[in-house]
Amino acid sequence: VLQLTLAVIKPDAVAHPLVLEALHQRILDNNFVIVRHKDLVWRTQDSERFYAEHSGRFFYQRLVEFMASGPMRAYILAREDGIRHWRELMGPTKVFRARYTSPATIRAQFGLTDTRNTAHGSDSVESARREISFFFPDFCVDEWMERE
Ligand code: CMP
Repeated sequence: VLQLTLAVIKPDAVAHPLVLEALHQRILDNNFVIVRHKDLVWRTQDSERFYAEHSGRFFYQRLVEFMASGPMRAYILAREDGIRHWRELMGPTKVFRARYTSPATIRAQFGLTDTRNTAHGSDSVESARREISFFFPDFCVDEWMERE
């Protein structure tokens, strides 16, 4: 089934023009259609709101600060089974696990730490809806996506 997903290139990767370019190319090489994309910078409050479900975790503060530390690039991507495909391309959250188990993935190749792990992707249809609306409030998800 054709799915939309929200993909984010995080500040660690956007800081390196060659890494950003490589990741953009990897999106195209993997048959994703770029529906929307934009560069943006979060305030701390945006970061806290987006990651509210992680408040209380030991890494929450550093995650919130990192994600508001510089520009990032957000994409709405479309592809058959797109949510799973983007997550497979990213690899595991933890960079050292990614390097060990799936060395060809984005996080294995470019991630710096478990927090500064280069990319984000929605993990379900419902989170894709929420995250697309969060980053692209003017995008009408209901015209594109069925409710599950
Ligand atoms: P992301 O896919 O954006 O979702 C939550 C983020 O929290 C995750 O990527 C990492 O950036 C960060 N994160 C998750 N687990 C850890 C961890 N164990 N240590 C540090 N940061 C983490």
